[in-house]
Amino acid sequence: MKNPSSIKKILITAGPTREFIDPVRFISNPSTGAIGYAIAGIAAKKGKEVILLSGPTYLKPPPNVKIFYFESALDLEKLAGKYFKWADCFISSAAVSDFRPRLKEKEKIKKKNGINSLLLVENPDILKSLAAKKKDKILVGFALETENLLKNALLKLREKNLDLIVANKLSSAHSPFGTARVNAYIIDRRGCKKYDAVNKVKLARIILDRVEQICYSFKHV
Ligand code: CTP
Repeated sequence: MKNPSSIKKILITAGPTREFIDPVRFISNPSTGAIGYAIAGIAAKKGKEVILLSGPTYLKPPPNVKIFYFESALDLEKLAGKYFKWADCFISSAAVSDFRPRLKEKEKIKKKNGINSLLLVENPDILKSLAAKKKDKILVGFALETENLLKNALLKLREKNLDLIVANKLSSAHSPFGTARVNAYIIDRRGCKKYDAVNKVKLARIILDRVEQICYSFKHV
């Protein structure tokens, strides 16, 4: 198994997906990509090779990070599939839309024609399908929940075969969207630790430290 210094190549996904309904409208979410960008920047400063797969965001790419952009979940699936093999560690912070419109209209849908319903189909679960090829890679996921935070996050940790999951509850006090502080739990197979009103850059540092500790404990069990 890996030791901390054997984590050299980190693949990170960040930001929202956009699922277009027609050329001018899409389904998305308020993710800014801040946590993924912070992790990428800190990892690069630590001397790691970093590939960042980014959804649409206004953030500036961190120095010494190779960046590729995606729009839809299907774009991200292709990019992540391409670079997964390369990575020692995969950190999936992207807020991936679980559904996309069944059809993208070629022309703008005109109001006068009306619309009664929007047919959606399910997107692939990118993290879950890549986890099937995990081998000795370290996998980190995120869980955003509005209820049963720990129960749902633990379920995702197991179902997606993750080493670590960062769980955030959507609450008015500290919204996980944006660059402000968040309330977060970091959960691994040994336990759970709560971080109150933690700054996202600090949280990014903690996540990377936890990843290295996991490698170390693998090496010493
Ligand atoms: N994820 C993914 N592909 C998807 C959905 C999610 O790779 N289609 C990843 C996210 O990047 C995150 C983790 O899976 O690391 C959990 O995402 P989340 O949206 O919280 O959960 P879902 O698995 O989509 O489940 P649900 O929407 O039912 O909570």
